[in-house]
Amino acid sequence: MITTMNPRVARLSILVFCVLGLAFGFLYAYRDSPTASRLLQTIPILSDDRSHSSNRPVTDKKPEGPPPPKYKPLPKNPPPLITDPFPLLATTSKDVLPPPIPAYNVPHPDLHHRYGLSRPPPLFIGFTRQWPMLLQAVVSYITAGWPASGIYVVENTGVHNSNRAGRLSLQNPFFLNHTTLRRLGVNVIQTPVLLNFAQMQNFFLDVAYQEDHKYYFYSHQDVLVFSLEDGSDQEHRPGDREWDTYDEEDKKATVLNPSAAGEEGYRTIYENCLREINTTATRKEKWGFRWFQYDHLTLVNRAALEAVGGWDSMIPYYGTDCDMNGKLGMDGWTTKHRRAGIINDVSSVMADLEALYRNPAITPGFVDPNPLPPDQEASIKEKSKWKVKEGSNGEKAYSNTTAMPTDPKAYFRILNQVGIDMGAHKYRDGDHQRNRWQKSQQGGLGEPYYYDPEGFARAFQLLTGAGMRIYTEKWGHQGCDVAEKTQLKLQDQWRVENDFE
Ligand SMILES: *[C@@H]1O[C@H](CO)[C@@H](O)[C@H](O)[C@H]1NC(C)=O
Ligand SMILES: *[C@@H]1O[C@H](CO)[C@@H](O)[C@H](O)[C@H]1NC(C)=O
Ligand SMILES: *[C@@H]1O[C@H](CO)[C@@H](O)[C@H](O)[C@H]1NC(C)=O
Repeated sequence: MITTMNPRVARLSILVFCVLGLAFGFLYAYRDSPTASRLLQTIPILSDDRSHSSNRPVTDKKPEGPPPPKYKPLPKNPPPLITDPFPLLATTSKDVLPPPIPAYNVPHPDLHHRYGLSRPPPLFIGFTRQWPMLLQAVVSYITAGWPASGIYVVENTGVHNSNRAGRLSLQNPFFLNHTTLRRLGVNVIQTPVLLNFAQMQNFFLDVAYQEDHKYYFYSHQDVLVFSLEDGSDQEHRPGDREWDTYDEEDKKATVLNPSAAGEEGYRTIYENCLREINTTATRKEKWGFRWFQYDHLTLVNRAALEAVGGWDSMIPYYGTDCDMNGKLGMDGWTTKHRRAGIINDVSSVMADLEALYRNPAITPGFVDPNPLPPDQEASIKEKSKWKVKEGSNGEKAYSNTTAMPTDPKAYFRILNQVGIDMGAHKYRDGDHQRNRWQKSQQGGLGEPYYYDPEGFARAFQLLTGAGMRIYTEKWGHQGCDVAEKTQLKLQDQWRVENDFE
């Protein structure tokens, strides 16, 4: 409803308003005179400290209304600007192909047939932030022998077509270069809107239905993977769990004495993953997940996820894995830690990813994209369980010689040590610094669908906390061991009282 005012009343009001305004204006202009300032002090909105200071221009007058915002202090140690970690691709034209990978890792196009699969299963790698980490993960899979055509980067950035159209800058945390991924032969799928982790997992599941895949793999983007090129590898990495084996022969082939590159029986990480699908099918086990270093690389049985109702989107980030594993456990779907290759859980990026192609002109080394202040770094280093064996903070090169070995297997041994050190660097302060990399790009202001990077990280933290509370209330249980420590069944969710005080 619109109310109208009598025009005479309106005119009168305007006149009164103007006269009052003029009077205040005069008083303010002559505020340094004693009379004016006394008068001004009786008018509450004008009598703050600032109206007493002399020589302040009239335009600085504080407007009526809410107080101005109080800004938080600027972050103390902003991360350095990032550089693209694969200069060869970033600085050459589109028709320049990536270098060849070591011959012994080149996947045979029909490899999946050998394991009874009519089509290769997809490997999904979800991406939200930090392009250098993603590119590193992708390149490491390819050079370890995973066919690029089987890799599906799932762009989950919420920036719509901006990356596809090349409209974001490298310093924007959501930057991703479609051209570079295409040149590598990798597929990119875009989520329609920004999804949380649980929703993104359900999205993978959805693609598996659409594309009719009974099994699929997913990987996190903060990994550096290798095949067991040097045979047996007894290094214990921070993310490793005890490996599950099916029998003595399997233990020898996967853990104790796998064949090295060039030897009879050598299998890349990709081939071992295909083999695992075959093994699970042959054993007719009721299985859900096969973890190749907890869930950094996971093989998923779609039927198991269907049986337990998929991922709980209400538990957006951490804790949603506890919920899923709990549900699988309660419903009798096995999950096992299997060895397929080397997976380094990392938070830093190799300075030049061309090293993964064993280019002898490149000495491998890594860079922390969000380093700690030196004094803090030094105090951590003192008490750290995981030691970076060579190089300080990873920037140092790994050899004194300018030329690296031309033999790819000899080069691998150096690369492998870099990977071990990168994993140690991530966990040098236990769990405290492991996700710092997620805040390593802070640019992009003014670009399409810009979101404040600090705010994004903080909101993520708050949602994580809320998700943990939902998990606890859903099962009436605290801790990630709901299948082992309770007698709960799948149907009990949201229906039980707390089992704790
Ligand atoms: C496993 O692979 C072998 C060939 O290596 C094939 O004969 C067999 O049918 C496969 N098993 C299943 C269950 O797919
Ligand atoms: C993406 O990478 C290509 C090289 O592969 C480069 O020419 C292009 O400028 C990059 N795009 C953006 C938006 O940085
Ligand atoms: C580099 O060379 C020096 C002396 O020649 C040696 O002490 C050092 O261990 C070498 N470092 C590496 C990483 O090989």
